[in-house]
Amino acid sequence: MRNTKTSPQIGKKLVDSNQTEQALEDRVQALLAQMTLAEKIGQMCQLNVGDQGVPDEVAQRVRGGTLGSIINVVDVDAVNALQRTAVHDSRLGIPLLVGRDVIHGFKTVMPIPLGQAASWNPDVVREGARIAASEAASHGINWTFAPMVDIARDPRWGRIAESLGEDPMLSSTLGAAMVEGFQGRALAAAGAIAACAKHFVGYGAAESGRDYATTNVPENELHNVHLRPFHAAVDAGVASLMTSFSDIDGVPATANARLVNGVLRDAWGFDGFVVSDWDSIRQLAIHGLTADDRESAYEAAQAGVDMEMQGDAYFEHLHSLVDAGEVALGQVDQAVANILRVKFRLGLFEQATTDTATLRPIADSDARKAAYQVALQGSVLLKNDGGALPLNSNSLKSIAVIGPLADDPYEQMGTWVFDGDAALSVTPLQSLRDAAQGKFDVLYAPGLDSARSRDHGGFEAAVKLAEQADAAVLVIGEDAILSGEAHSRADICLPGAQAELVRRVRGTGKPVIAVVMAGRPLTLGNILDQVDALLYAWHPGTMGGPAIADLLFGVVSPSGKLPVTFPRVVGQIPLYYNHKNTGKPPSDDTIAHIDDIDARAPQTSLGMTAFHLDVHFSPQFPFGFGLSYASFRYSDISVSNPNPAMHEPVVISCQLENTGAVSAEEVAQLYVRDVVGNVTRPVRELKGWQRVRLRPGESTTVEFTLLADDLAFYGRDLKLRTEPGEFHAWIGGSSAAELQTQFCLHA
Ligand code: BGC
Repeated sequence: MRNTKTSPQIGKKLVDSNQTEQALEDRVQALLAQMTLAEKIGQMCQLNVGDQGVPDEVAQRVRGGTLGSIINVVDVDAVNALQRTAVHDSRLGIPLLVGRDVIHGFKTVMPIPLGQAASWNPDVVREGARIAASEAASHGINWTFAPMVDIARDPRWGRIAESLGEDPMLSSTLGAAMVEGFQGRALAAAGAIAACAKHFVGYGAAESGRDYATTNVPENELHNVHLRPFHAAVDAGVASLMTSFSDIDGVPATANARLVNGVLRDAWGFDGFVVSDWDSIRQLAIHGLTADDRESAYEAAQAGVDMEMQGDAYFEHLHSLVDAGEVALGQVDQAVANILRVKFRLGLFEQATTDTATLRPIADSDARKAAYQVALQGSVLLKNDGGALPLNSNSLKSIAVIGPLADDPYEQMGTWVFDGDAALSVTPLQSLRDAAQGKFDVLYAPGLDSARSRDHGGFEAAVKLAEQADAAVLVIGEDAILSGEAHSRADICLPGAQAELVRRVRGTGKPVIAVVMAGRPLTLGNILDQVDALLYAWHPGTMGGPAIADLLFGVVSPSGKLPVTFPRVVGQIPLYYNHKNTGKPPSDDTIAHIDDIDARAPQTSLGMTAFHLDVHFSPQFPFGFGLSYASFRYSDISVSNPNPAMHEPVVISCQLENTGAVSAEEVAQLYVRDVVGNVTRPVRELKGWQRVRLRPGESTTVEFTLLADDLAFYGRDLKLRTEPGEFHAWIGGSSAAELQTQFCLHA
């Protein structure tokens, strides 16, 4: 169930209101009728321009009307010149799609998508995408390759940074919000750009979290988990989708007709276009699916891939494939129509060039406010012993700010920031100094040159400062380069000598506050007992500093919640909250620990359940977890009707009270378990959430309405169904919520 406060607006097509669907289709067909085969194939091609000037081949192809899209040019004058060539000099005057990876901001950088997801707030996520789109549009970009809605259950995978986490509903809601933000009210409106949901599909399931590795996703999991956020993006009107690099169950996604033509177009009715990933058509031969580029072009075209990103398999071979009757002309026409439809929707035939004067200036106050809000709401307080936080600016005499990431404008932007401007970043050190306003001293020593450094040379100076100060704030984590595409890690603990630095500072006996900036969940076991408090800020972007300072000083109470499970050790991966029960689920009564096993204990003495002998089966921190400076009490859960019929809504509600001393926001979450299913169902599934603001002592009723559709899943026949029977429901502050009720749905 989508509760009203967080519901994406689904089912709406983002069409310029002046164009009816029919009129648009008429224009597409009229143009198509005038095109030669070479011009049609040209629309299906994209070339990389880069920042070294426009290559001759690109300019010639644009002039000749045999190039539909360019990627990676952000010089607005160069883009405008190419658009003028396309519109005025090519035979049919078809404008270009100008693509760029605007993943979490353009010049003004929002937190990495995983950090945005920790806000659980579609409004701030949508606003971040809107700002990113309008800044990018002012540079002539009209198409971004975001949002990435791959479900990410493996923190070793570097691209988890770019994901919206492990949960299908959270990813669906926030992915749809990003689509709405990028694409605006209408694609043709000023500042709107076309979005691209990627990577269709299963890319996040890469074996061992190694980017690009094979994926093996069972049909049931594909439909119930991985496809869902893509469907939500399509319902939100996303203009394009990108196929994944990976091999999925033996058929690489870029050649997967069953998924692209079958699921995306036939089952979901997607009428935008599908682009391959970078050169992923030619890579079909490297996968060993095809013998050569010609066969690869054939496979991708018959699968329904409309455009080739930076590669020349289509350009070189589609013509001869059509001439030989191997690829039907109708198939090419369909692909070109899909691309032209988006160009018309973008209003490019009316205005292809960019008037820089009329668009939003870069990094204006709205942009900075948006970046601040999402960094603020997406930072997660994971530990706060003895009220170590918030720091009290009135009683402090000095703080020691330590750590390689405390004052690094570049690293805090995170991965995928081709255009991000580090000069705009405000670092935690700068903001803590601003917060001090002469009331207390801010001492600073980085301790390490980079988060990967193993050089202890700076330790003494750092420890000395900690000794002098009332408290130490350690800003540690991962350098930006340790996450993102092709930046996977096998060991996801704090890199370099950071854990040793934490221990040394701990040795001073001063309160230790850790702020972690990272592109993924890290295994924190080796520092958790060395710190009094830990705030997880991800890579927080341009306005990370002010957000972190305001959270540390309690100007605002932390309210972020984990969008992904934090494992204790790498060996637990994959570890996610919505797993299956198994026939032998572990419990505290059934598990043993490796240290407690008698030398000659019989095999069956170990409980015989699904756990590791050397680590507890629970995670370090569960999905949905996040502390606050307030405390919240959930009570009095009730269900409106314990025996509803299929057509009757069920309202699950509870009381939520702020029992703490400060005003704060809490993300109240609803989880449901379908106890018996045609296929086994997860132990819990997120079905709704609300961000609620409460003053001290204030309480409210939190209410979620469930309809039969909200309880639907794909069964053995891969058909969506809601089954009668028993359901358990929990409301609370994380996926480990204990307040439970139940209802029994009748046919
Ligand atoms: C990535 C895509 C990206 C594309 C264009 C690829 O390597 O997988 O996500 O959009 O490059 O830069």
